[in-house]
Amino acid sequence: MVTDKQGTILVVDDENGIRQSFKMVLKDNYHVLLAETGKEAIEALTQNTVDLILLDILLPDVNGLDLLQKLKAIDPHPEVIMVTAVKDVQTAVRAIKLGAYEYIIKPFIVDEVINIIKRALEKRSLIKELAYLRNELERYHPSEEIIGQDERMMKIFEIISTIAGSDSAILIQGESGTGKELFARAIHKLSPRQHQPFVVLACAAIPPTLMESTLFGYHKGAFTGAVRTTLGKLEIANKGTVFLDDIDTLDISMQAKLLRAIQEKEFERIGSTKVIKVDIRFIASSNKDLRELIGSGRFREDLFYRLNVFPIHLPPLRGRRKDIPLLLDHFLGLNAKRSGKPLKKFSSEAAEALAAYDWPGNVRELQNLVERSFTISKGPEIQLSDISTFSIAKAKIKGVTLKEAVDDFEQQYIQEVLDSVDGNRKKASEILGIHRNTLLSKINIFPEKP
Ligand SMILES: Nc1ncnc2c1ncn2[C@@H]1O[C@H](COP(=O)(O)OP(=O)(O)OP(=O)(O)O)[C@@H](O)[C@H]1O
Ligand SMILES: [Mg+2]
Repeated sequence: MVTDKQGTILVVDDENGIRQSFKMVLKDNYHVLLAETGKEAIEALTQNTVDLILLDILLPDVNGLDLLQKLKAIDPHPEVIMVTAVKDVQTAVRAIKLGAYEYIIKPFIVDEVINIIKRALEKRSLIKELAYLRNELERYHPSEEIIGQDERMMKIFEIISTIAGSDSAILIQGESGTGKELFARAIHKLSPRQHQPFVVLACAAIPPTLMESTLFGYHKGAFTGAVRTTLGKLEIANKGTVFLDDIDTLDISMQAKLLRAIQEKEFERIGSTKVIKVDIRFIASSNKDLRELIGSGRFREDLFYRLNVFPIHLPPLRGRRKDIPLLLDHFLGLNAKRSGKPLKKFSSEAAEALAAYDWPGNVRELQNLVERSFTISKGPEIQLSDISTFSIAKAKIKGVTLKEAVDDFEQQYIQEVLDSVDGNRKKASEILGIHRNTLLSKINIFPEKP
C-alpha cells in the first residue's frame, strides 16, 4: 500500500475524550488505532504492525505496568509512551525502566506530544538502519557530548581516558540519571573497539524468562516458538562492548550463567552444544550499592569482583552544583538546534530556582525540564512560571520530595483551572481531561450522584 503516513500509532486509553483528542492531533500524519482496554490493546497489537503505542497507565481491566510488559512480550519493537496523570508520575518513571520510551502528563500539551512522538519514531528508523544489529535495540542518544567542570567529573574523565584502552571490566555506579550509560558509550568510543558493536543488555527491561535466550541466543527448535536460530546479545557483541545496564536487577541464577560466560569467554546457544567463543569488553552499571546487595544475598560476590576491576562513581547533580548552569545551557542549545527555533535562555529568577533545586532525577530530569519548558515558553526568555508547571517553583524550598512537589502542583493547577472557569467543575474537568468524579475526588469532595 502506498501511503504518506509516517507510521501506525496505537492509542490505549479508557477515556473516550482522550482517545478522540489523540486521534484528532495525529490522524493527518499517522495511522491511528484505538483501544479502550488492555484486552483490546493486546488484540490490536497482535493483528497490526504498530510503530508506537500511547499507553494510559490507569486502565480499568489491567495494571499499566503489567500491560506494558505483556505488550513488549508480544512485540518488543513499538516504542511505548506512557500517558499519565500527575499523581502517577512515579509509576511512569518505573515504566521507563521497563522499556517505555517516555511519559507524558495529562492534560498534555500538543506540541510536546508531537515532539516526543517524532523523536521516538526517529529513534526507530535509526534502529532500522543499523542492519548489522538487526536484533538490537540501540538507544537513540541525541548528544553524546559530556558536560562537566566539577573537579570530580574532571577526575573521572581522566580515569576513563586511561582505562578505555584496556579490556578490563568497568563498574559504573551512580544514582538514576547521572550519566552511567553516557559514560559507558564514551568509554567504548575511546577504546580500540570503537568500530565494533556497543550492545546494551537492559537487565531491568528484559523479563527474567527471556534473559537467557536474549544473552546467549537459541537454536532453531530449542523450544516452542524457536522457529529460527537467533543470535544472543553476546554473540552480536563479539569484538565489541557489552553494557550490562542495571546489573543489580539480574536474577541470581542468571548471574551465575553470565559469570561463567565472562570467565570462560565462551557459551552455547540454548538448544545447541556448539561452543561459541567471544571477545567482549564488559561495562556494568548499577544505581544500587552492590556491596549491600551482596550482604543480603541478592548479588554474587564473585560476579561483583569480576566486574568491579575499575569502579567509577558518578556523583549526583546536587553534589556538583557548578555543572547545573553548564548543563542548562547545553540542553537549551540542543533544543534550539533540534527544533530550528531561536536560542532561549532562563530568566534570572528561573535560573536561580534551578540552581538551588536538588534534582533527584539528576541530569535526565534536568534535560527533560529544559525540553518541556523550551517547548511551552513563549518568547526568548523562559520564566519561572513556565518551569513551575513542572513543580520546580518549590525548588527554593529544599527537602520537598518529588511526590509532594507533584501533588502540590496538581492542586495548584486544578485550582488555577477552576478559577479560570469561575468554579464550574464540569468545564474544569473538560479542560483537565479528567472525569468530573476524578476532579471531585482530587479536590477532596465525594463524587456526586449523577
Ligand atoms: N554530564 C553530562 N553531560 C551531558 N549530558 C548528560 C550528562 N550526564 C547525563 N547526561 C544525559 O542525561 C540523560 C541520562 O543519562 P544516562 O542515561 O546516561 O543516565 P543513567 O545514569 O544511565 O540513568 P539510569 O540509571 O536512570 O539509567 C542522557 O540523555 C544523557 O545523555
Ligand atoms: Mg541508564
